[in-house]
Amino acid sequence: MKKILLLGSGELGKELTISLKRMGCYVITCDAYENAPAMQVSDMAEVFNMLDKEKLFEIINKHKPDFIVPEVEAIETEVLLEAETNGYTVIPSAKAVNLTMNRDRIRDRAKSLGLTTARFAYAETEEELLSEAKKIGAKVAVKPVMSSSGKGQSYASSQEELRKSWKFAIDGMRGNRKRVIVEEFIDFDYEITLLTILEKSGKVSFCDPIGHFQKRGDYQYSWQPAACSKEVIKKAQEAAKTMVLDLGGSGIFGVEFFVDKKGGVIFSELSPRPHDTGMVTMFTQNYSQFDIHARVLTGMPLPEIKLMQAGASHVILAEENATGNYTIEGIEKALEDENVDFRIFGKPTLKSYRRMGVVLASSLDKAQKAAKKISVVSIE
Ligand SMILES: Nc1ncnc2c1ncn2[C@@H]1O[C@H](COP(=O)(O)OP(=O)(O)O)[C@@H](O)[C@H]1O
Ligand SMILES: [Mg+2]
Repeated sequence: MKKILLLGSGELGKELTISLKRMGCYVITCDAYENAPAMQVSDMAEVFNMLDKEKLFEIINKHKPDFIVPEVEAIETEVLLEAETNGYTVIPSAKAVNLTMNRDRIRDRAKSLGLTTARFAYAETEEELLSEAKKIGAKVAVKPVMSSSGKGQSYASSQEELRKSWKFAIDGMRGNRKRVIVEEFIDFDYEITLLTILEKSGKVSFCDPIGHFQKRGDYQYSWQPAACSKEVIKKAQEAAKTMVLDLGGSGIFGVEFFVDKKGGVIFSELSPRPHDTGMVTMFTQNYSQFDIHARVLTGMPLPEIKLMQAGASHVILAEENATGNYTIEGIEKALEDENVDFRIFGKPTLKSYRRMGVVLASSLDKAQKAAKKISVVSIE
């Protein structure tokens, strides 16, 4: 029985754990808080700060897992590089996890591999942000190099807004590196996630592209297949293949692209793990992104991935500034439409706009209608 150490225990980790448990794996889940979603379905849980180098070493050496599987970016990745050197297997590879922990490392790598990206620069002070933004263009996106789900991310088109963006980024950043990426704002036609599968043999394959819509830098809904032209798919697949082969290892990757109005494909970012917008695959594919990751990371053969039906997913969010305990209402009403399914993540408490669940449905319209019927209600 393979032993998995899952670093991060959110909703993606929960579904991955379920897939791994179905394959008979023993799963130890880790996160900074108790009773996190994946912990509710795993064999064992460890609660600690994964940015604490010594503690992370201690946990790895205590359990001696066959596979170390990161689910989040906020991990002390130096430990993973060292663990890999010492014979542990990090999924997809310690290099992939290390390069994607911060936005700057992976962006620099994409550029050096010749991928098309938005014009970008970095800044470590407010003044530097002002001068770099000026060189880039009229409107820019500003993001801390270490953050996720839109935290600390904003757009600016004036000096005053840039100053606000600097403060917002520094307040929203994770870790202790005061550094932001400032990017040309891309007025894209649409954006996609291309789930890209890398097997141990070096074989690369793809799921159908997933379209998605973001608000506050955070995913709101996604659909599969995205209506991309053959040309767009080809360009995105080529770029994604270049990236994953460079990063190496085995697993599924979420590769994000903007598609501009002329059909240009612009690499945005990459996660070396299942992707939040890819939850739709639980409804659409013969094997979900979680089943695929579980198969590939353990080195099992993977059958051909097929889109069985079109579908969409829509998040169920807590309200702005919500805290404390909660209940979720309206699911029965949403399920009156037979084409609707759902997942509730089981997060212990509310936070502002926290993602509490997801609706899955056979079309975006159905997913949106169903999500409207569901509400997250605070209770004392
Ligand atoms: N340069 C940009 N131009 C236009 N929109 C952007 C840009 N950068 C980010 N966005 C929007 O913000 C979303 C989140 O940004 P992303 O870099 O993917 O951060 P995260 O790691 O939080 O997902 C993107 O999916 C896109 O909708
Ligand atoms: Mg993203």
